[in-house]
Order: sequence, then structure tokens, then C-alpha cells
Amino acid sequence: MTTAVLSTFSAPKGTYDLIPPDSEAFLAVREAIAAPLRRAGYGYIETPGFEHVELFSRGVGESTDIVTKEMYTLTTKGGDELALRPEGTASVLRAALQANLHRGALPVKLWYSGSYYRYERPQAGRYRHFSQVGAEALGSEDPALDAELIILAVDAYRSLGLRNFRLLLNSLGDKECRPVYRAALQDFLRGLDLDEDTRRRVEINPLRVLDDKREAVQKQLTGAPMMRDHLCEACKEYHEQVRALLTAAGVEFEDDPKLVRGLDYYTRTTFEFVHDGLGSQSAIGGGGRYDGLSEMIGGPALPSVGWALGVDRTVLALRAENVGLAAESRTEVFAVPLGDEARRALFGVVTELRRGGIAADFAYGGKGLKNAMKSANRSGARYAVVAGERDLAEGVVQLKDLQSGEQSPVPLDAVVTEVRGRLA
Ligand code: HAM
Repeated sequence: MTTAVLSTFSAPKGTYDLIPPDSEAFLAVREAIAAPLRRAGYGYIETPGFEHVELFSRGVGESTDIVTKEMYTLTTKGGDELALRPEGTASVLRAALQANLHRGALPVKLWYSGSYYRYERPQAGRYRHFSQVGAEALGSEDPALDAELIILAVDAYRSLGLRNFRLLLNSLGDKECRPVYRAALQDFLRGLDLDEDTRRRVEINPLRVLDDKREAVQKQLTGAPMMRDHLCEACKEYHEQVRALLTAAGVEFEDDPKLVRGLDYYTRTTFEFVHDGLGSQSAIGGGGRYDGLSEMIGGPALPSVGWALGVDRTVLALRAENVGLAAESRTEVFAVPLGDEARRALFGVVTELRRGGIAADFAYGGKGLKNAMKSANRSGARYAVVAGERDLAEGVVQLKDLQSGEQSPVPLDAVVTEVRGRLA
């Protein structure tokens, strides 16, 4: 018979906790994505975890799943209608406009890192709370900027050791050519045998139908008009320049004329990074140009481009490729005191080591020698500093190399210098 266990809480459905040592991989991924951005002049921005609902309904789009089905919305006690942010682009643009950054030198280049919330059906790689690192370049219509961002993402993935990812690239046209294409696509789609939901989608957001994963739908899409055959000269020329810059930088891509993405704000360049080791949730990052978003949220014309990379899925992709990340143990020295006097002395040594830039830890809880040495070994430290009454009486501690087992006395006041010399 099982004994009743006191009921405890668990993380809400679709969420999970980041716990050491796995959490180290997340930090490493965030840092690896940020590093190339910093080198390219992107400044760090942080915005609130929630915004006015309307920012997203206007920005991301009334017809998207994100807005209609997936937003966590709430009414505050004061009557404000807020939503936990489902994505970062609308917020970053809102913040930049509010701070008048667009009145200074353009483009304004920003990067961010944080948590996002979507009420999606949870499955492997798809969560209700997830992490992105993103970058946005605001206020410039230059194919080199689109190329720069894509190259920075590729460099970030590569620096992590990720290999089996592909870049899918498309152009969604602009406000000149897209409406014409949209109408042509609608004409085509209205002639197909589609269920009611999809027929409704044809009227609201026909491009999304191209993205439908169901075979019954895909089969009927053969011969559908494609955006790339409807691009105006300006969009065609722009796209060619992006492609040429990527090729010159040694970045491989696949033209994917059906790549639409799930947010309404995109114009021209759109792209997605997919990883083949992740099953159905294969998109590890995505982005594109959004030349009309600023006006959609009440700002001036501000052509912009950006991306967001999924931290959770990048970690999964690294795992799928068996890429190890980060030194999980950073402790270099572990202090093992024997007796009260030694506790006081070695606690002081640990503080001094840490202040001297050396990662040090301590056998807490008054453990005996055997258990304390076990903790020292488990910590991954290279050295243990051991001391008892007799050592202290002689003004020394024992410095033990945990790899070789060799041990030698070191004067108490010379521990930091000695350890630093040996670790160098
Ligand atoms: P997105 O494609 O919706 O784009 O999300 C970017 C990445 O976030 C995805 O490729 C995926 O790796 C990760 N992601 C999204 N939803 C989930 C989820 N439920 N669970 C785990 N990971 C997820 C955007 O969010 C745009 N704001 C990107 C952008 C920036 N476009 C222009 N600038």
C-alpha cells in the first residue's frame, strides 16, 4: 500500500522549471545569441511582461491564432485590459516610439531576452511559457539590414556548435503587390473543397491557408498562385539583394514560397530557422521585415526588420545533436573545516578566495571529514582546502589536489596567492 503523500504544487500545464545543471544550457544559449548582437551594435532593451491587449490585437493581427486563441488576457482591478506578452516585437516598437528613439539616428538596433506566454496546446517543444532572445532594427529599409540580422542568427547558432538547422526564406511583398496577390489567391482558394473553418480563413487571412499542414489541403494547393510570381519590381529587387548578401556571407538558405509565418505584420523578407531533429515543433527561430507595424500601432512610418530565436527549442536542438554546453561545475576550491575554529578560519578563506575572483564553496552543516570530502569531490573543484586544530596552530591549511590526491601545507595568509598560481 502506498502511503498518502502530502499534496504539493506542480508547475502549471505547459510550463516547466529550469533547474541546475540543465539551466546552465539555457544561460549559455542566451549568452551565445546575445554576443554577436552586441558586437553588431544592438543595445539591450527590456519591456514589461504585460501590455495593453490592443497593442497585440492591432500589431500581431486580429486574424492570427496568437491573438484570437492564445493570449493570456486579464482585466485589472482598475479596469485595464492587459495581456501577457505573446511576443516581443510589438512591445519593443511601442517602447522605442514612446522613448522617441526613432527621432535619433536610424536604424535603432535593439536586442532583448525574456519570457513569452501563449495559451497553446502543450507538446514537446511547445510550451505556454517560453523564452526568446530577439533583435529588432527599426527605421531603415535596407536589404543589408535584413541580411545582417540573418547572418547574426546563423553565427549565434554556429557558435553554439549547432549544425543541422536550415534557413527558409521568402518575400511576402509590400502594400503595393500583396493585396493584388491576396485577391488572386482568394480566387483560387474559393474554388477548393475546404472545411468551414478553412473557408473562413480564406476570407480573413488567405496566406495562412498555404501553411496548412493537413495533406487534404496541401494536395489541393498544387497550382496555387505564389507570392514570388506576384512581387512588384521593387520587392523583387529588394529580395534579390538580400539573397545575394547572404550568399556572399556563406549563408545557405532554401527559398520557401509557402513560408507565411503566424503573425500579420510581415512584409517583404520573412524567414524561419528549422531544425530537423525536433519533430513537429521544428522552428527554432524566425522573423522578417515589418514595414507597416509602426503605423498599425499609431506611430509614423518606420520600416523595420527583426527576429526572435526560441531558447527552449535551441536547447532541445543542441540536445538532439548531442552538443554539450557550458562547464556545469564552476567551483574551483572547496573548503573542508574540521572543528569550530577551522570553520571560522576557512569561512574567511572562502570569502577571500571569492573576493579574489576564485570560485569557492564550503562544507556547510558541520559535516564530518568523510562526508565533507565527498561534497568536495562532487562539487567538481580542483582543490580542497582542509584544516583542523593542529593545522591552525601551525598557521597553515592543507591544500589538496583532488585530481592527483597530493596534499601540502600552505600558510593561511598565502592561500589565495598559492591557489591562483596553481590554477593559472
Ligand atoms: P515566432 O515565430 O512566433 O516569432 O517565435 C519565434 C520563436 O519562438 C519560434 O521560432 C520558436 O522557436 C519560439 N516559440 C514560439 N512559440 C513557442 C512556444 N509555444 N513554445 C516554445 N517556443 C516557442 C515571433 O515571436 C516574432 N516576434 C519574431 C520577430 C521579431 N519578427 C520580427 N521581429
